[in-house]
Amino acid sequence: MLSYQHGYHAGNFADVHKHLILSMMLQSLTRKDKPLSYLETHSGRAMYDLSDEQAQKNQEFQSGISKLWQAGLKGTEVYCEAVTAQNTSGELAFYPGSPSLAQHFARANDKLMLMELHPQESQVLKRHFRQDSRVAVHQRDGYEGVLAMLPPKPNRGMVLIDPAYEDKSEYDQVVAFIKRAKQLWPNGSYAIWYPLLEANRWKSMKHKLQRTSIRNILCSEIEINPADAGGMYGSGMLMVNPPWPLEDNIRATMPGVLSTLAEGAAVDRLEWLAPE
Ligand SMILES: C[S@@+](CC[C@H](N)C(=O)[O-])C[C@H]1O[C@@H](n2cnc3c(N)ncnc32)[C@H](O)[C@@H]1O
Repeated sequence: MLSYQHGYHAGNFADVHKHLILSMMLQSLTRKDKPLSYLETHSGRAMYDLSDEQAQKNQEFQSGISKLWQAGLKGTEVYCEAVTAQNTSGELAFYPGSPSLAQHFARANDKLMLMELHPQESQVLKRHFRQDSRVAVHQRDGYEGVLAMLPPKPNRGMVLIDPAYEDKSEYDQVVAFIKRAKQLWPNGSYAIWYPLLEANRWKSMKHKLQRTSIRNILCSEIEINPADAGGMYGSGMLMVNPPWPLEDNIRATMPGVLSTLAEGAAVDRLEWLAPE
């Protein structure tokens, strides 16, 4: 089933949560000169035109990146700069997806390995990066594709796992993936995004992960709406082997982000799902 297209949701509050943390991770990982590998299981199309039909349908970016971009919040600078780099006219016209953010942080010797199964999205992704020799785009299943590339060269870096969770089996697939990935590349960092939905499958995914032997898992969650409001009411990110000083950065920044994004009562949680 490949009906999900991220263009309808680009730049929404969940993207802001996910991409802010991703930017913090990439900033931390690029502090050292040593080259890194960035891998993605579910890449999407990299750049979203906010004036197109998909983005305009529900204008989800209006309650996400539009609010944050020019708020000037401390701790959001590197993420907002990456958005500004795509919007040099000063108007918010394009939203960079995770592969574009990774490209923004990448240095000359870094490598990006991007999986995207959807035929059209992967064509757009390939076209987007055709002139960047650091980037390889693969039209294949993201779980199987990334596992086949682990451990990567260079041997430091991270994997972003960002499924659409269209099928409820995805929650178990994520757990199976991370168990195997961690065996193949123990020193890699991993970020797993998930939606907070009333069905609570994300809670059992976390419990299953907690019962594995994997340690050093940090968890950030924000709730923008009441749980019974219908649809996605919050956003979660699990970080395995989070690079320093990610925990401090999230703790210092997320409360301000939440008060910028949320209209009513909102919740911000940062906790260790499994300590080191
Ligand atoms: C949530 S979107 C990705 C958004 C992107 N990571 C970002 O943050 O900008 C999920 C993407 O996964 C793709 N997809 C769905 N199933 C997949 C699979 N098994 N392997 C690889 N990609 C898949 C969808 O076509 C969609 O583009």
